[in-house]
Amino acid sequence: MPEKTEKNLAYAFAGESKASVRNEAFAKKADSEGYTQVARLFRAISGAESVHARRYLLLMRGKIGSTEENIERAFQNEIKANVEEYPKLIKEASDEGKERVLKAFSQSRDVENRHAELYKKAMNDMLADRETDYYVCQVCGYVSEDEAPDHCPVCGAVKGKFKLVT
Ligand SMILES: [Fe+2]
Ligand SMILES: [Fe+2]
Repeated sequence: MPEKTEKNLAYAFAGESKASVRNEAFAKKADSEGYTQVARLFRAISGAESVHARRYLLLMRGKIGSTEENIERAFQNEIKANVEEYPKLIKEASDEGKERVLKAFSQSRDVENRHAELYKKAMNDMLADRETDYYVCQVCGYVSEDEAPDHCPVCGAVKGKFKLVT
């Protein structure tokens, strides 16, 4: 892949990924303000931007491998976020006294560790035919197996904040 094209794909992938998440957040806001139809549009466009992002990722060399490779990469990324990336962000938020940001970064760091643990588990029993439901805390991103806990172990959110992954 020529250098500029490779760089442009990465740039477009990052931009479309951000737009997708941003539109999803806009949709939630629109819902909370009673604009159901606008929320639906934000969700539709969010889905569309994520189609773009996925398309670029598929075109970028070596970004998607076999499931075995992908799960190993996903595991490594969680570890890196947990031990390298978030600690730096946490320190800087703390230095600047930004309490809410510090809390968000700290909870994310803990949650990334949990994500790594789940990937590790999946690597170990990829071929086992164990079926598990996953519930995601909509406040901090903690992932629970089999059922939603009464309270999130990372952020303390109540059971109702957990969403079943279908
Ligand atoms: Fe994660
Ligand atoms: Fe949580």
